[in-house]
Amino acid sequence: MRKLWGGAFAEDSDGLVNRFGQSIHTDLNFWQEDLIGSVAHARMLGAKGIISAEESETLIRGLESIHEDGPESLPMDVEDIHTAIEVRLGEKVGEVAGKLHTARSRNDQVATDTRLYLHNQLIELFDLIKKLQALLLTLGDKHKADLMPGWTHQQRAQPITLGFHLMAHFWALQRHGWRAERLSELANYCPLGSAALAGTSFPIDREMTSHELGFNGPIPNALDATSDRSYILDALGLCANLMIDLSRISQELVLWSGREFGFVSLSDAVTTGSSIMPQKRNPDMAELIRGRSGRVIANWVTLATTMKALPLGYNRDTQDDKPPLFDSLTKVKDSIKLVHLMLESATWRLDRMRDSIRGDFSTATDLADFLASTGMPFRRAHEVVGQIVRGCDERKITLEALDKETLHAIAADVPETALSVLSPEGSVQRRESLGAPGPNAMEKQLSHAQWLHKCEGFPKIA
Ligand code: ARG
Repeated sequence: MRKLWGGAFAEDSDGLVNRFGQSIHTDLNFWQEDLIGSVAHARMLGAKGIISAEESETLIRGLESIHEDGPESLPMDVEDIHTAIEVRLGEKVGEVAGKLHTARSRNDQVATDTRLYLHNQLIELFDLIKKLQALLLTLGDKHKADLMPGWTHQQRAQPITLGFHLMAHFWALQRHGWRAERLSELANYCPLGSAALAGTSFPIDREMTSHELGFNGPIPNALDATSDRSYILDALGLCANLMIDLSRISQELVLWSGREFGFVSLSDAVTTGSSIMPQKRNPDMAELIRGRSGRVIANWVTLATTMKALPLGYNRDTQDDKPPLFDSLTKVKDSIKLVHLMLESATWRLDRMRDSIRGDFSTATDLADFLASTGMPFRRAHEVVGQIVRGCDERKITLEALDKETLHAIAADVPETALSVLSPEGSVQRRESLGAPGPNAMEKQLSHAQWLHKCEGFPKIA
């Protein structure tokens, strides 16, 4: 295996040691970031006269030509991406390649690469979140008057609308957008030039490389710059948080697409069949998202465990910060795309949803609200309506089927006008408080969300 070190070693390392320590295969995820970081470093070395302008030019041209050749041209019999690129550069430009690593270490280099990589990944994530939000906005508007049950404790609670329910997921995504944006700000500081842990005696310009690479500024302490991995933990936390919400949407789709609910039919493009039961249409993608959220949560735990009590200064343990990061980001991006695809191609069984509310007593709160609005204390109204529900149960009738006589047989002092509040449609129509599913409140919510969605990034909700 080709190495960037070895002068002090009499013997070659064991084959297992090489294999155990190698990260080149996963490092390929950020081969471009490594090149870009090296170009900035080479330019700065030239500008500061640490190497000649000509040498700097040669290095930059060599690095650019590696970029043109693509990752396939890189040697794989090396420890990591930094070695691969330096070896390849040597093949291209000769001995001057050895000057690239002046005033730099792989420790500041890898930290710079990871921060650049995360920055680029977050831009992709912003876009995917925005696109899924756009779909939820369209569906939220389209189904703002389509009734469906609302649950608490997974028990029928109060009627809501499909549009209202879907919009709840819009706001969850808005929060993830904020988190991602804040993380992007927090992580956008440059370790390059910190060298191994303690800076360098060469007259480098860290402001220059930081600026060229698009960072807000250099990290002020070289030891901190090479030791910190908290931004990766934050990224893993963000991914875990996002996956948790995607798993909740997925679980709804699993439940709702089953025959017991029958609220939605997922398209052929996102479902799979059974090898034995010809009638099956399985929501595998939703199940996989639900299941893989476990792995994404575990990735955070993995790195948190690695970092706990790790002394400052580069430690090889942190080489393994990257596979969980790549894994979580890939899973979360794929899962957002799949949720998008499932929702976009779903057929909603609106009649099933509406009909399922009939007879489920979910307008009992409306009856209590009505009595309270006539001056009865709400606690008393709750009690009276409880008796009415029990009376209906005993008579095996639904709340909507109550007539004046039955009502008075159960609760003599409840006025018959109370019967006017028992329809699910009316129940939704009357709930106009801020954030409720009533038509005007929902219109306000939608325009608030539409306004935010048009803004660049993920601004504050108010
Ligand atoms: N592959 C290493 C990593 O990802 C690069 C840094 C190696 N530094 C060292 N001193 N061995 O952490």
